[in-house]
Amino acid sequence: MRYECIGCGRTFDPHKKLYTCPECGSLLEIELDLEAVKEKIDPDVFESEEPTTWKYRPFMPIFDDSKIVSLREGGTPLYRCERLAEEIGVQELYVKYEGTNPTGSFKDRGMTVGVTKALEFGLNTVACASTGNTSASLSAYAAKAGLKCVVLLPKAKVALGKLAQAIIHGAQVIAIDGNFDRALEIVRRICDERENVYLLNSVNPFRSQGQKSIGFEIADQLDFVSPDRVVLPMGNCANIWSIYKGFFEFKETSIVESIPKMTGVQAEGAMPVVDAIKRGLEEFEPVEDPETIATAIRIGNPVNGPKALKAIRESRGTAESVTDDEIVRAQKMLARHEGLGVEPASASSIAGLIRLVEDDRIYRDERIVCVVTGHILKDPQEAIEVSEPPIEVPADYEEVIKRLGS
Ligand code: F0G
Repeated sequence: MRYECIGCGRTFDPHKKLYTCPECGSLLEIELDLEAVKEKIDPDVFESEEPTTWKYRPFMPIFDDSKIVSLREGGTPLYRCERLAEEIGVQELYVKYEGTNPTGSFKDRGMTVGVTKALEFGLNTVACASTGNTSASLSAYAAKAGLKCVVLLPKAKVALGKLAQAIIHGAQVIAIDGNFDRALEIVRRICDERENVYLLNSVNPFRSQGQKSIGFEIADQLDFVSPDRVVLPMGNCANIWSIYKGFFEFKETSIVESIPKMTGVQAEGAMPVVDAIKRGLEEFEPVEDPETIATAIRIGNPVNGPKALKAIRESRGTAESVTDDEIVRAQKMLARHEGLGVEPASASSIAGLIRLVEDDRIYRDERIVCVVTGHILKDPQEAIEVSEPPIEVPADYEEVIKRLGS
């Protein structure tokens, strides 16, 4: 196993705590020795065990199993959504529902690995900037590991459920008068200057290693035949890369034959990567003041933008933007046709799929998986604001019947 720079290609010792390339400053990636991984795979485990993040232990970059910090993450359902598929006009649609993770979002898959790494490096504090879910997850895993935790949030825009989680798990919560991009700049500087603090934003390449398990599980749940396409929201852009990497490693180890077309969705007010894909740019141009109802992906300068571009281009996928209205419509469709409650950012994957189908940019007979990343209860306020309010009546049988109508 090694760190490898995605810019200059230099490699580094994975026993050292690094975030970016010490030579050129680009993002680092963890590269495993896939031949060695292949030898460690036990076909019986693959056949018989239920999917979870740690089922794929040979693909996880951990040196000391005794240090693993787990809240039983992963193992999320892959639902075949026939009513939704019919409504959208596609033949075979699945939804990977990440809301059933321990803290209600996919972030737990990365944190189980990231916090384990903090212990392996012998550190006593973990930190992150967050639009909410990363902080909720990190706070819980830090609590489980007995580590101190510091989280920086944008003051005005964190959904209530996520804030409640960070606070109750005992993190030191700092709300800055600025957006996520600024919070990340500050926390990166703190972690560069303080040796005992481990940065667990997705610039940390180990977190992404845990998130590969979304790809592993999708493949596993489809009997090790990759879908044609995976559609998901992009914020800081680690997840699209991680899922791509999961499929890539499964292909390299002959577990699957192909890699799905990675298809990323951003909100119209925060779409630097979609813009770069549509205009064929080498690099994305940051968005100054990102804005969207999907606060989880309200990010103008995604750290992992270069990795997202690579994942999309190498898998021959695409990217699409959606309006806030389209996000809300998709959120309600998923809730009302399939019984799945998701927060707005998650619904953008469905909204993006609808757009692509309407614009004839994908084939209707593709086997498609939409990843929905976080639970509805993360952002109850939004759900209430976009829905009809309850009908208020006196506590009287006749009055209730009158309002119920036929
Ligand atoms: N969906 C949800 C619910 C999220 O919370 C996030 C990111 C994303 C999608 C996008 O994933 O960043 O890997 O492209 N939330 C981060 C946070 C930024 O701080 O919780 P990504």
